[in-house]
Amino acid sequence: MELKKFIDQLPMPLVIKPRKNSQNNPYVVRMIQTRHRFHKNLPKTKVWAYQGKVPGPTIEVEKDQPIYVKWENKLPKKHFLPVDTTIHGAMDTPEVRTVVHLHGSSSRPASDGHPEAWFTRNFRQTGAEFVTKTYEYTNREKATALWYHDHTLGITRLNVYAGLAGLYLIRDEEEKALPLPKGEYEVPLIVQDKSFNTDGSLFYPSQPSNPPPDLPFPSIVDGFFGDIMVVNGKVWPFLEVEPRKYRFRLLNASNSRAYLFQFSNSQSFFLIGTDGGLLERPIEVQSLQVGSAERVDIVVDFSKLQGETIILQNQFELGNPIGDVMAFKVTKPLKEKDHSQVPPILSKIDLIPLTVVKKVRHLTLDETQDEYGRPMLLLDGKEWDDPVTETPLLDSVEIWELENKTESGHPIHIHLVNFLVLDRRESNGKLKQRLPTDFGLKDTVTVNALETVRIIIGFKPYAGKYVWHCHKLEHEDHDMMRPLTIRKPDDQ
Ligand code: C2O
Ligand code: CU
Repeated sequence: MELKKFIDQLPMPLVIKPRKNSQNNPYVVRMIQTRHRFHKNLPKTKVWAYQGKVPGPTIEVEKDQPIYVKWENKLPKKHFLPVDTTIHGAMDTPEVRTVVHLHGSSSRPASDGHPEAWFTRNFRQTGAEFVTKTYEYTNREKATALWYHDHTLGITRLNVYAGLAGLYLIRDEEEKALPLPKGEYEVPLIVQDKSFNTDGSLFYPSQPSNPPPDLPFPSIVDGFFGDIMVVNGKVWPFLEVEPRKYRFRLLNASNSRAYLFQFSNSQSFFLIGTDGGLLERPIEVQSLQVGSAERVDIVVDFSKLQGETIILQNQFELGNPIGDVMAFKVTKPLKEKDHSQVPPILSKIDLIPLTVVKKVRHLTLDETQDEYGRPMLLLDGKEWDDPVTETPLLDSVEIWELENKTESGHPIHIHLVNFLVLDRRESNGKLKQRLPTDFGLKDTVTVNALETVRIIIGFKPYAGKYVWHCHKLEHEDHDMMRPLTIRKPDDQ
C-alpha cells in the first residue's frame, strides 16, 4: 500500500500522572481496543492500546521514587491478528492474554511481567469485568529511557504489533544538572515498522502464499518486516525544528527490524546514552546500529541547516521506500539562543573487575527445525520448556559468551540486569571493532551474524524467576527465550 511520506506531523506521546500525587496511589493504565489514525490518507486502524494511545502514554518518574502501576486488561475476547496455535504457550484460549514487562527495569519477580504471568479479562471464570495486576517499579536505575510492552508467552509479537508498547523515562539529579537540550527540545522517537491492508487494518502474515497442506502457519523465523515506517504512531512523519540542538530519545520498538540510523546529509551527531543511561563521554558518530528494544540517547545539531529538510534514514534499507524513517524540517525560527551543550563528561559507569567473575557461560544462538519441519531458533540448543540451565547466584558476576551460529543478528535481552559489553569477535576468534553503543550500560545487545559477543553481568538485586531472550519478537515467540533463575546462596 502506498502512503505519501512526510504528510503527518510527529505527535508527542501523552505523559501520564498517577491518580493522586502520593506514593501508594497507582498509575492506572487500561488496555483497550480502539482505532488509531496512522496517516492522513489511511482509514482509522483497529489497535490495542494502553490508555487508548499508540504508542502508550509515557510514564515519567524520579529515580528512587517507587511507583505502582495498575495494569488493566479490558481487551476483547479474541485476537484480531492471527494466533499461531502451534507454538509454545499460544494455545487457543477463550480470552486474550496480556502481561506487561517494564523493559530494562530491575523489578522483583512478582512485578517483572514474566511471560507466564499473563492475565485475561476473565469473562467466564469470575464474571469480573476485567482483571488487573498492580506492579511495583522501584526506579533504582540511573536516569534513562526504559519502555513497557506486552510479554505474553507465544503471542508477544502480536500483542506488541497490535499497539501495546510505551515509553518510561527515569530522571535523576545528575542528568538534570547537565546542560543538555531540555523541554520541547527533548523529543522521544518510538520507531516501528508496520504493514497495512488497503482498508487501513494492520497486516500481519498468517499464511504463506502457497501453504503446504499440513502447515497451519508459515515459519515466523525470518521475523516480521513491515513496508511502512511509523514514528510515535504516525507513518513517515515530519518534525519542524529550530536551527539548534535537539536531544532525541530513540527507541526501536519494531518487532524484528534492525536499523543503522543516519541522516540524509551524512552529518554527524552525538551518542550520549544507551539502554542503561548516560555514557561517560559523548561519542560523535555518523551512523548507529539499533536492534529491536535497544534505545539510544542522541543529540543532533540543526543550527547550520536553516530552511533545509533532512531525513532520518535506515542505512540497511537505503534506496528502498522503507529506508526513510522521518523528516526534520528546519523551518521554525530560533526562539532564543541555544545555550544547550553536549558536555565532555556525562556520567560515571562503574566497571566490573574481571577478577570477581564467578562463572563463564558459553551460550549459542542457533537454528533448528520444529516438529513441522519449519526453521526455528533456539538459545543454547534448548526450547522454552526445557529445564532451567541459567541459574546464577544472587550478587554474583558472570561472563556470558554469546556465540551466534546463524546468519542473522539477534538482539539478546536479559531481564533484571544491566550489563557491559567486553568484546566482539568473528567466528574465527578475531577481535572486531566494538559498536558505539557497546560503551554504555546495556540490557539488550545485538549479536550480529556469526559473531561472538562477551558480556559481563552482575546478577542483582533480586533472586527469583526471570527470562532472557532474543528481542526479535518472532524469534522470542518461537522459541528463542529461556528461563533465568537467580538463586540465593541457600537455594538448591
Ligand atoms: Cu523487552 Cu523480555 O523484553
Ligand atoms: Cu533472534
